[in-house]
Parts: sequence; structure tokens; C-alpha cells
Amino acid sequence: MAAMQWQSHCEADTERLGEVVGRLLARGSVLGLVGPLGSGKTAFVRGVARACGVEEGLVHSPTFVTATQYPGAVPVAHLDLYRHEGESLDRDWLAELLDSGEGVTLIEWFERLGGAPLSDGLLVRIEYAGRDAGSGSDDERVLSIEEMGPRGTSVLDQLRGQVGE
Ligand SMILES: Nc1ncnc2c1ncn2[C@@H]1O[C@H](COP(=O)(O)OP(=O)(O)O)[C@@H](O)[C@H]1O
Ligand SMILES: [Mg+2]
Repeated sequence: MAAMQWQSHCEADTERLGEVVGRLLARGSVLGLVGPLGSGKTAFVRGVARACGVEEGLVHSPTFVTATQYPGAVPVAHLDLYRHEGESLDRDWLAELLDSGEGVTLIEWFERLGGAPLSDGLLVRIEYAGRDAGSGSDDERVLSIEEMGPRGTSVLDQLRGQVGE
């Protein structure tokens, strides 16, 4: 099915969409985030974390740390692969994390993972839509969400019902 598209006008919008998506995620699911620096990947993560019952203020953009785990009603693992060069991520550790099914795993710069076996996931792409498109404010973004794996499809269907296109 085609990706769902959604327009964000400000950071709070992106966080809110993250929160709606977060409420639909099941333990064990993976959410990949793709988009240029400053597009709002971490803002989206903040919304997901809120929906998972993570304490406010814990989500940050890690500089040297590539993986952080936040305790919550649903634990959240947050990976940022911006500086990932291919060898710096422990693949066994990642496979264990995904297999454990304990919480949700959110991965910024997901494309740098270079593929991973996923059965339940969503891919969120964020693009600048204002300045670069020649109109509107600098805060405009277009988010598109597509499924990765069969369970992602049902999440996307529910999401369409809740926020429309
Ligand atoms: N519509 C929007 N959605 C998300 N962030 C926005 C938006 N408009 C402006 N911003 C700003 O862009 C920046 C996004 O930062 P961040 O979420 O850390 O991006 P990334 O993780 O993709 O590098 C923040 O400074 C935020 O205030
Ligand atoms: Mg970030």
C-alpha cells in the first residue's frame, strides 16, 4: 500500500504525530527514521517516547552515544546512526534487542543500517517542505510513513483511521 503522507507545520505537530504513532506500536516493533539533519527525527522520537510512558526530558540527540534505552511503561531503545560507519554498531547486540520484543526500537538514520531482518516495523521519512519548496515557513515538513513487514501494515491502517491523509 502507498505511504501515508502528513504535513507538519511546527515541532509540536511532529511530536504529536509521533505520539499518535507511539500509541499504536506494539512491543518488539521497530521504527526507522530517515531525513536530513534538523528535519525533526528526534522530535518525532520524543512523541513516541511520551506515548510509551517515558519520563519527559530524557530523550536527547546523542553525540557520541549511538544507543540509549529509556525506561517506560513500554521501554524505548533510541539509536542514532549519524556517525555510524558500518562497523561501530554491534550487530549481535542489535539482533538481541530486536528479538527480545520487550519494547520499541527507534532508529534515526535508519538507512545507514544497511538492512536488517524486520517483521514488524514502520519507516518514517521526513522532508523539508517550506524553504526548499520555495514557499511557506522554514518549519514546514512532510512526513511519510510506510510499513516494513506485515504488522506494520495494520499499524498504518489504524493510523489512517486516526489522522487521515
Ligand atoms: N515541523 C517541524 N517538525 C520538527 N522540528 C521542527 C519543525 N519545524 C522546526 N523544527 C525545528 O527543527 C529542529 C529539529 O531537530 P531534531 O528533531 O533534533 O532533528 P533531527 O533529529 O532530524 O536532526 C528543532 O530545532 C525544531 O525546533
Ligand atoms: Mg536527531
